[in-house]
This record gives sequence, C-alpha cells and structure tokens, in this order.
Amino acid sequence: MSTKSVRESTGHTFQEIVDRKIARRAFLKGAIALSVVSLASSLLQRPSADGAEIDQLRFHPISLNNEDTVLAAPGYSSDVLIRWGDPLLPGAPDFDFANQTAAAQATQFGYNCDFVHFFPLGSKDSAKRGILAVNHEYTNPELMFADYNPKVPTKNQVDVQLAAHGLAFVEVELSGGKWRWVRNSRYNRRLTGESEMALHGPAAGHELLKSSHDPTGKKVRGTLNNCGGGVTPWGTLLTAEENFNQYFANRNSLSDSDPRKAMHARYGIPASNSERRWETHHSRFDLAKDPNEAFRFGWIVEVDPYNPKFTPRKRTALGRMKHEAATIVVAPDRRVVAYTGDDERFDFVYKFVSKRSMSQRREDNFSLLDDGTLYVAKFDVDDGGNGVGRWIPLVAGQGPLAGWSEAMMLINTRGAADLVGATKMDRPEDIEANPITGKVYVVCTNNSLRGTPGHPGTDPANSVARNAHGHIIEITESNGNHAAREFKWDIFMRCGDPARAEHNSYFAGCDKEKISPVSCPDNIIFDRKGNLWIATDGQPNSLKKNDGIYAAPVQGPDRGYVRQFLSAPVGAEVASLVMTPDDRTLFAAIQHPGEGSKNLESANLTSRWPDGDFPRPSVVAVTKADVIGT
Ligand code: FEO
Ligand code: CA
Ligand code: CA
Repeated sequence: MSTKSVRESTGHTFQEIVDRKIARRAFLKGAIALSVVSLASSLLQRPSADGAEIDQLRFHPISLNNEDTVLAAPGYSSDVLIRWGDPLLPGAPDFDFANQTAAAQATQFGYNCDFVHFFPLGSKDSAKRGILAVNHEYTNPELMFADYNPKVPTKNQVDVQLAAHGLAFVEVELSGGKWRWVRNSRYNRRLTGESEMALHGPAAGHELLKSSHDPTGKKVRGTLNNCGGGVTPWGTLLTAEENFNQYFANRNSLSDSDPRKAMHARYGIPASNSERRWETHHSRFDLAKDPNEAFRFGWIVEVDPYNPKFTPRKRTALGRMKHEAATIVVAPDRRVVAYTGDDERFDFVYKFVSKRSMSQRREDNFSLLDDGTLYVAKFDVDDGGNGVGRWIPLVAGQGPLAGWSEAMMLINTRGAADLVGATKMDRPEDIEANPITGKVYVVCTNNSLRGTPGHPGTDPANSVARNAHGHIIEITESNGNHAAREFKWDIFMRCGDPARAEHNSYFAGCDKEKISPVSCPDNIIFDRKGNLWIATDGQPNSLKKNDGIYAAPVQGPDRGYVRQFLSAPVGAEVASLVMTPDDRTLFAAIQHPGEGSKNLESANLTSRWPDGDFPRPSVVAVTKADVIGT
C-alpha cells in the first residue's frame, strides 16, 4: 500500500496512525497488567512464578555521563582484555607507538575493533577458553601517528593503516577469575587489507571483478571496513564489509558513458581524491588506474576461525552493499537465511535464503551461501494500521530486472533494489533474531535527512522526521518461518530521552518514568533468555553524552524496560558485544576512543583511555560471579 492510499483511506498521516496505535497499545498493556494484578491479588495472594521467571534483568542501571572510562553497572567489573598493538603472532614485536611499521602491525592486534564473537575451544559449550574473532573496521590516523598530515600521509602511515584493518583471531582463556589472551596460540591470526581472499558465488569471475592484478576476477587483496558480522551454525565467522567507498578515489576519471561511473556514484565513491589519500601510494585505490577494484569490496566474507590456513571467501550471493551484519537463522526445512542491512540513509533491509538445506557434515555447508535468493524488504500498513510487509525477490531477467544478469544484480545490488519498490530505511544497522521468540529486530540508527527538502518523507516503518535518535523494528515472519515471503511488523522502540517530550520516544509501551535515555542503537545481541542488549553509536552527538550498552526484556511485564548497563570512554562507541555461552562474560568492543580530537597534541586530546597516555581501541571483558544482567 502506498503512502498516498493510506492517507486517502484513513484521512491520517502515517505519524498519526503510528502514534495512535502506540498510544492504544500502551493503554491496553496497562489494562491487562491491571487485570493480572487484580487476579493475582484476589485469587493467588502470592507472587506469580511466571512473572518471576520472565523478569530476568535485575541490575541497577547507571546514568549517562562524560567520564573517560568504561563504567559498568554496580557489582560488575570491566577489564581491558586486548588493545590495539598487542603482539599476537610468533615473532610479533611489542607495540612501539613512535616507530610503527606495517610488518609489525600485521602481527599485532589491529585498530578500531568492531564485531566480536567468541568461538569455544575444547567443547561446544566451553565458556572458559575460546577464539575471540574481532573485526578491525577502520583507522583514525590522526590518533595513530604524532606527525600525521591528512593531505600528505606518508607511505609508511598508509601501509600501517592497511595492516591495522581487517580482523584478528586470538585465543582467550579465563584463568584465576580474569580473562587473558594467549600470545603465539596456533589459532591467533591476522587478516589485513592485503591478505589474500577468494571471490565465490554467482558473480565470481565476472568482468567487473577483474582488476589489474587479478585477471581472473576470483582473487582479492584484503578486506576493508569490516563492521558487523555474524556466525554460522557450522562454526564459521561472517564479516561484513561496510563503508568501503572511502578508500577509493577519482570516480570522475571515468567517462559519463561508462556505466561503471553511475554504479560507483550509487555506492558513494568520491568524485576526486579520497579523504584518506591511499591512492597516492597504492594505484589500486585510484579509479583512474584501476576502475574495477572497488567492485571487489562491499561483500560478506566467510572465515573459518578454527583453521588458520583457511582462505577467506567473499560470498557474492549475499549481494554487494555497505553490509552491516549477516545474521544466520535456520528455516524449518533447514535452508539457511541470512539477514543483512545496508547501512546508509534511505537504503534497504535484505535477506538471503539458501537453495540447499544445511547438512550435518560441516564441510558440506561451506558452499551453502553461494546459491540462493536475495530478497529486499517492503514495509507497509494494512487498513487497520497494522504493520505488514513482504520480501521482494531480486530475480535477474524478470520484471524490473529484465536485461540484468545475476552477476550484475549482485555486484550492483543497490541499483537492482532501487527498481523493485523496497522501503528506504533510516540506516539499517544490526538485524538479529530472538532465540526464544523467533522475532527479528531491525535496528535503524538514525537519519537526520528523513523528511527534509529533497529527501524521502516519513513512512510507517520510518515515522520520525529528522530521525536523530533511531528506532528498532520488530518483525514476525509468517508462520514463524524465516524463509517466508511475508511478515508482520511493529515499532518496538523509538529512542530518545524519555524525559524530553519533544523526542517522542516509545519503549514498547513501558512506563517511561523508569527508562534510561538511549539514542542511536547500532549493534544488538540476545542473551540465552531472549533479553535484548543494545550497543549505541552516536550519543556524543545526539545526547552530548558517552555511548553505552543497554538491556531490555522483549517479553513479559517488563517488555521494553530499557536500562543502561555500561558506558564507554569519551568519543568511543561500543561497536559490538557478545557473551560467552554461559552468559557469564560480556565482551565489548570499545571503538574510536577520543574520536573528534583533532590530533594527539595534549591540548586537543579528549580521551587517554585505557592507559592514560593516548587512546587505544580495545576489547573489554565484563564479568561478575553470576549470569550477566541478573
Ligand atoms: Fe560501521 Fe554501520 O556501523
Ligand atoms: Ca555498526
Ligand atoms: Ca549483533
């Protein structure tokens, strides 16, 4: 249903419909809660055992602040586990800030940790020893090098940054109540912007994927801007290449008649020089010299953490975009579904459904993500104002995609999705499925341009103009089948400061009096009981306070009761979080502490976390002698 038809059929705007629906639900929830309380007090006269079970989160919330440290809820300890520069591999030198080299950095923990996942070692449920997989999304050279000049970076500075990108795999263990990383473990590995990777799936070998140093179109040097990710049931890591556009330069060197020019523009590749200026030292980042190299980035990459010799595989079947995450869920017929979002204002939410079903044999599943259907989401409302939606298949050669090959559709996924009428979202970041309820949560970080002149207006699923604080959408797939073509949806949260009426926040109908202010949700996880944990990216801008971690139940009487659990140092986002299989340790990536500082000069530096000298992106381990959150 179009915006126009809803307005005509009901006489109200989307905002009014959504607001009224939310208000009605809050009233009903209050009425139901009241009747349950009356029943309980009149008939039972004792606390509800069910209620006690559902109310799993009991930590005392912390407040927003501007402290240059990691603060966790009372009773929890947080320790820095591993920092930028820590030496992982045999022969790796200790970190030497003043004398960094690419060779050393390629053996040390990289910069700006993002997605983290704990792969157990020993047994499947081991919660004391594992491989921590960590994305290194990007670099802040102004905070890495004392003499950095952004207009003329030296070759060494560029090469160190290439080596500080990618991923780290590092063995970690709980010993004497503290987590530590294991130097020289056989599982320790670094992947960088130069490591060899393979292109797999329907687009591998396509003309557009051939570059000056790879005539086959099947081999790539490196992975860049690895943001979120996911894990497969067969124990591999999926890492998401996000803002790869920023590394490339000189789109305008292509002629207007060259179709590649418009494709590169749709993905935001700069018209002239890049801000990072890597093209001055590496011709592959200069479109004037290598017009196809940028097509070889923007993919979901699969890596086997248990096999340090595994050549990472870029999975072209999942499409090319600014991937934020790849969350795998198994459908009832054992086909696998991968949810992924394109983190750009007014871009789309996708899911991939594999053609084959998952096998019991691990190795059989290593090609599962090479063949399937990619869908893009369309969010609507029915005449009653209820959220309904459908997954539109991107099928090359049919309908609006007549004349497209499958490979073209996967390389220029944004261009294909533009043609089929998908819903333009407010920066879809993480997407996760709740392990208890099966509902899928789509996190929209923010979109300051929504409803501004020259940009799309509000719609039911993105109902806030100039959306400064973001929102979370709750999807229920038809019949609980993640491979379904239709779904229902609801707004779960509209973020903001609940005490400020102008933020028009909403927390699944929960009483706003007790809710912590929260803005710019980015990465989420669910604990084993199905509680939602949220990491934020953007509060220093939107609330003028540090980013943090929050938790909220999604079912039961406390549904939507958001409490702040942790706060990050100045300038940092909490880029991602993960718990050990027993939910007793929470690892969190503290990314870009001190971002916003012009340089490392003392008067300009806003953060000296974690060691009091200069900022170092790090992973922290948060523990207490019990399950986290209880
Ligand atoms: Fe790298 Fe969309 O966050
Ligand atoms: Ca993110
Ligand atoms: Ca997540």
